Amino acid sequence: MARGTGMGTNEPEREKSKTVGPLAGLAPYLLPYRGWMALAGLALMVTASLSLMLPLAVRRVVDGFSEGSLERMDEYFGAAIAIAALLAIGTGFRYYFVTRLGERVVSDIRIAVYNKMIGMSPAFFDKVMTGEVLSRITTDTTLILSVIGSSVSVALRNVLIFFGGMTLMLFTSVKLTGLVLLIVPIVIVPILVLGRKVRRLSRENQDKIAESSGNAGETLLAAQTVQAFTHEARSALRFSTLTEQAFTAAKQRIGARAIMTVIVMFLIFTGVVGVLWIGARDVRADQMTTGALVQFVIYAILVSGAVAALSDIWGELQRAAGATERLVELLTAQDDVVDPVAPKQIAARVAGAVRFDNVTFNYPARPGIKALDGFDLEIKPGETVALVGPSGAGKSTVFQLLFRFFDANEGSVSLDGIPLTELNREDFRKQLAYVPQDPVIFATSAMENIRFGRPEASDAEVVEAAKAAAADGFLMALPDGYDSFVGERGVMLSGGQKQRIAIARAILRDAPVLLLDEATSALDAESELAVKSAVEELSRERTTLIVAHRLATVKQADRIVVLDQGRVVASGTHEALVKEGGLYARLARLQFTDGQMAAE
Ligand SMILES: Nc1ncnc2c1ncn2[C@@H]1O[C@H](COP(=O)(O)OP(=O)(O)O)[C@@H](O)[C@H]1O
Ligand SMILES: [Mg+2]
Repeated sequence: MARGTGMGTNEPEREKSKTVGPLAGLAPYLLPYRGWMALAGLALMVTASLSLMLPLAVRRVVDGFSEGSLERMDEYFGAAIAIAALLAIGTGFRYYFVTRLGERVVSDIRIAVYNKMIGMSPAFFDKVMTGEVLSRITTDTTLILSVIGSSVSVALRNVLIFFGGMTLMLFTSVKLTGLVLLIVPIVIVPILVLGRKVRRLSRENQDKIAESSGNAGETLLAAQTVQAFTHEARSALRFSTLTEQAFTAAKQRIGARAIMTVIVMFLIFTGVVGVLWIGARDVRADQMTTGALVQFVIYAILVSGAVAALSDIWGELQRAAGATERLVELLTAQDDVVDPVAPKQIAARVAGAVRFDNVTFNYPARPGIKALDGFDLEIKPGETVALVGPSGAGKSTVFQLLFRFFDANEGSVSLDGIPLTELNREDFRKQLAYVPQDPVIFATSAMENIRFGRPEASDAEVVEAAKAAAADGFLMALPDGYDSFVGERGVMLSGGQKQRIAIARAILRDAPVLLLDEATSALDAESELAVKSAVEELSRERTTLIVAHRLATVKQADRIVVLDQGRVVASGTHEALVKEGGLYARLARLQFTDGQMAAE
């Protein structure tokens, strides 16, 4: 649970809203559809009033039996049929308007949540599992759909019927209505008390479901690893434990609801029977006609049915309130990194001067550990700089900050002399082409995966980029060539093939700043050589920052910067650094002593 709830609002605060108040969070999504809401409301009112008119006709029909006049009776039956027809049509309209509104609003919410989530900086996803976000987008929105699409309209109709029925009851018999009114508070109390419990339990249920979805998502994505370590039983146990917890919460909720139903139904029916009993005596004493009693009883049934439905819906509404709360939480989640209010303009194509000025940074998830510590780096436009150092030194972190996925705690990062914090992230990210340490491949064709680098690129440009990245050969050998499907996360490709697609993507992007994070680590010697010359070609006219473990790949750089524990410990050319001794010379000795490069 710890991971799932770390989104700014803490547990006690969430529990405070015990009512359906959070549903107000839906208002912004409903407001654009005022027209549909009005139509739905109109249909609701019409059908509710028609249901209330039906008993009037029934009374006439009943009393008509005793009073004779066949024509009158025919008229009343005719009227009853007309009302029934109108009621049916009105109900159809109500269903259409209300459900359509619900579907529309839920689609909007889904889109809004996704739009918000896709732009969140990585710190957010450190705290919230993506599976949980998905569960919220799917299950929680479904709950809201059921509320807008049916519960709210059923609730409104029942509220209308309740008050309308009450009024008409009053006109029928003041005495009997007074008796009914005595029953109402007795019915309301258990609804309020148990309803509160139901809401807490349903929130718990949804939280557990979201947690188990997050868990399932993670392990299913890594099913092979799970199996390789024969971890299936444990993963299954963990999932079933979470699911069982969700079930337990659901069971308790259902129990509470069931008890509530028993109490409420019993009270209502006892009340109705009691009132009927008294009414029957009045009819005997000729203080009331049979028709009037029948009419009153129908109203009483309508009204009590409305109360019962409302108590049912109250639980539904509370469930949906919980769902809305969770979605609003996502929609209002604060991002640690935000664009400035008045961003500076950057050139359509920057010169490519990159500067880290005394940057100190720790990942939000690791407050104590400085990933970068007083890091300084200035790269001139067009220069090629290599970052080397042991793993965990902070090399990838340099890229993370250059994308402004995170903000530095101290110091500043700038592009062409403008601090990144003064620019729109989208604007400066367009200037960067990046090959990450673990390339991400999407479940589509190889062609589209490369085109991800520049969506408007033509097929010919994609092929050209693939050739430069030494990817053309293996792509052509696939059954459908460039159109071959590469599987979810590229499972149908080898590590080196994925890297070459990622490199082709970066080449295609054709941005003034090129960032390569161990981009060739999984390549065989031959492909690496091919890619190396492509990268050299590319880096000639652009600023290039390369991270590589194999020093052979970084020797050509204009400058090599040695990083250790987040600090620059040395910098210079390969020859100068070797001469200097120190960390780089040690790394070089380790790598080059098996003869191949020692002489160079
Ligand atoms: N997302 C993250 N959250 C917390 N700590 C991280 C994260 N990514 C990296 N680190 C930590 O930051 C330090 C630097 O990591 P990194 O820049 O990836 O090193 P490398 O030089 O191997 O690329 C390491 O101690 C690593 O454990
Ligand atoms: Mg790294």
